[in-house]
Amino acid sequence: MVKRINILCVCLGFSALANAQYRNSTQVGSADCPGYSVTSVQTRGNSLFSRLSLRGQPCNQYGKDVKDLLLEVDYENSRLRVKISDADQKHWEVPVSMWSPDKSYRPKTSMGQLLEFAYQKDPFSFQVKRKDTGEVLFDTSKHRLVFEDTYLELTSSLPENANIYGLGEVVDTFRRDPTNTTQAMWGRDVADPVRENLYGTHPFYIELRNGKAHGVQILNSYGMDVILEKNSVAYKAIGGVLDFSFYPGSDAYEVINQYTATVGRPHQIPYWSLGFHQCRYGYVDIDEVEGVVKNYSLAKIPLETMWTDIEYMDMFKDFTLDPINYPLERVQKFVSELHDNGQQYVLIIDPAIQRNESYATWTEGVKQDVFIKNPDGSIYIGQVWPGYTAFPDWFAPNTQQWWTSQIKNFMDDVAIDGLWIDMNEPASFCVGSCGSNRTGIPPYPWEDPNYKPDIPQTFPEPPYAIHNAYGNLSVKTVSTEAVHHGGLTEYQVHNLYGHMEAIATRKSLLSVNPNKRPFLLGRSTFAGSGAHEGHWTGDNWSTWEQLRYSISGVLSFQMFGIPYVGADICGFNGNTTEELCLRWMQLGSLYPFSRNHNGKGNIAQEAYVWPSVAEASRKALHTRYEILPYLYTQFQHAHETGHPVWRPLAFEFPNDQEMLNNDLQFLVGPGILASPVLAEGATTVDAKFPEGIWYDYYNWSPINGTAKRTLSAPLDGNLPLHIRGGHIIPTQEPAITIAQSRENPFSLLVALDEQGNAEGGLYLDDGQSIHVGQQFSKIFYRATSRGVQARGHFGYRSKALLKNITILGLKAQPNEVRVDGRAISPNQIFYHAEKRTLIIAQLSASMNRPLRVTF
Ligand code: NOJ
Repeated sequence: MVKRINILCVCLGFSALANAQYRNSTQVGSADCPGYSVTSVQTRGNSLFSRLSLRGQPCNQYGKDVKDLLLEVDYENSRLRVKISDADQKHWEVPVSMWSPDKSYRPKTSMGQLLEFAYQKDPFSFQVKRKDTGEVLFDTSKHRLVFEDTYLELTSSLPENANIYGLGEVVDTFRRDPTNTTQAMWGRDVADPVRENLYGTHPFYIELRNGKAHGVQILNSYGMDVILEKNSVAYKAIGGVLDFSFYPGSDAYEVINQYTATVGRPHQIPYWSLGFHQCRYGYVDIDEVEGVVKNYSLAKIPLETMWTDIEYMDMFKDFTLDPINYPLERVQKFVSELHDNGQQYVLIIDPAIQRNESYATWTEGVKQDVFIKNPDGSIYIGQVWPGYTAFPDWFAPNTQQWWTSQIKNFMDDVAIDGLWIDMNEPASFCVGSCGSNRTGIPPYPWEDPNYKPDIPQTFPEPPYAIHNAYGNLSVKTVSTEAVHHGGLTEYQVHNLYGHMEAIATRKSLLSVNPNKRPFLLGRSTFAGSGAHEGHWTGDNWSTWEQLRYSISGVLSFQMFGIPYVGADICGFNGNTTEELCLRWMQLGSLYPFSRNHNGKGNIAQEAYVWPSVAEASRKALHTRYEILPYLYTQFQHAHETGHPVWRPLAFEFPNDQEMLNNDLQFLVGPGILASPVLAEGATTVDAKFPEGIWYDYYNWSPINGTAKRTLSAPLDGNLPLHIRGGHIIPTQEPAITIAQSRENPFSLLVALDEQGNAEGGLYLDDGQSIHVGQQFSKIFYRATSRGVQARGHFGYRSKALLKNITILGLKAQPNEVRVDGRAISPNQIFYHAEKRTLIIAQLSASMNRPLRVTF
């Protein structure tokens, strides 16, 4: 039995446990690694400080054991923080400036009332428990603690067959295999392999247990493995400190709320970014790009934003235009025509800057000392698209100013609407500072038959080899010995590179247009990146398998606080097929970020290429544009609370065993269930319906959950969507652009639940300003079987009016309908008895004030 010998401060939830219960454990303080014991404890306010001392002879397993450690436990607003660091504070820690916490976050219940930190003194171990039930969420007591200069290890027990979600970036099922998952955290440029480390670093998981959720995160930028096996989660890092955050939930959305309050709320997106985007690697010239825009227009498929990949650059140099294929005047004319049509233009940039004495971005960068260095102080020269290149060092004091002036100068010439920051793991094709002693433009390694990737001995490789799927940590990136400002090495800060580029680039875009929401899409992300940018899931494959995995990819980034995310529609690598592309356009039309993007050399896959795909795309995008007000509202909600835009069924129905592994269906917001076709040749979907009533989006017929249904989904049909009883979906008549759609009439789709109730919300503003002041509307809709009401804040002046209200699940025909007390004409009222649907039509009601409809 656990005996408490020393309750330090129950109100804060700190407690020390008796030692005896653990003495017989063989795993703790094992002969080779002695573990630590608590030598002193102090509590101050919401915090506990303690010193830990090595209990015996160092084991020096993968480095040198650190003798004295500091334990700091803090109850903050949004988390319980447990940090174990070296007492000398020599180990590098991620600076607080990496996050933009939501300082206004006030929890309903304080962390100290929700969680208890209990520890055992000798050997030291700790537990995090729920205060109300005593349930142990995190427990290191059966495992060793190792803290060495180049190796840290901490393990917690997990329940058998635990429901763990997260730990990315990865291509995998949404629920991770609790018996056999090794997730390396080392940003990596690679074409979306399954279950390997990828571009971004998110060592954060949510566990669902008995219908409740909690989250656990470690903050550490060094390479590490997070391993799920044998009913445990183990963290094995190659340096830094053990800085854990615990988020009690108690549902998954509250966990994400607490997590994003800590690391940074998702940024507010520009409304136009919800339109459909087209890109490809390989549009050879501006004629081709113009042709694509024209073809979309001819095919009457809404194209909101056109993109161009690296071909627009002169010899792949950032902030330049290819004078032959993308001449300035032509590009300027093209952009202004796009803008005249209400469309946007986004361009790619890579961090790597060509070494070239007649290239101002380089010469200015050298002058301002902004590049990553070799240990001898010379500039580190790797290789990317433009040949030998240097890499901006985001830690250096002048980098921001230099980067901003490059972006500003370029945007003075070309009025782009956003930036796509690619290759920022950072990717480098050769090993080490390969260009230091070489000149000219080298062939790409894969084109050079004589290329041998020799890895110099000097590149620090840790004694513990994390499971980086490239093996050596310096492969395909800047080598671990490269030096950043302040003497930091790439070994320490590699995983922060893309995140820091995003922070800098967002600042640059804001300094060009201070009151315009920047549009920024980045590849390598870190905890908190969602405050600055969106993400796409990188170089996927045109395969059915990757179509399926794209759902868990999007879902996991919702957890990571980066809700604006999508996969390359129709696939990036390899040739798609007509059928795959059709199904992908259907699914992709629901991605929070919806972009068709293709790799170089593959067959064309724009939505208009095949008549069947064009038709499916028109249908699918019609639906997307119809629900834009709802989608935009979800993004605002995400911005305020972190709540996901796409919701995993596991999080929504954590008590439903059928849903815990379901990553082939998902909810868009809380109210729309999507059941896409994901298999070749299929024309039906086997869909599972959780509890509740679900109304077919297109024909309004209800399904009573909990049910399994085979839904018809022919190629020329729609992606099956169902509205969840209890929800109100604001819609708008779609047009070919977002700007035009926003002028069209609104409607409300009211889906009553079993009790005859429904609720919903609508957020409106100008869709582009950072500072909207009071000029926004936040409308709350409430419906019963007797009426619909709109209340809230009405600060935005919408010219568009409310046209129709459709009420699903209304059991009896009403005698009359009154709007704000006045009976409307019977010609405006249609009741379908069989469908139990009431349509109130041609209302022309203002969206700018409260409304009361009774029946
Ligand atoms: C890699 C990116 O992931 C891909 O989307 C892009 O097309 C290529 N780089 C070329 O820029």
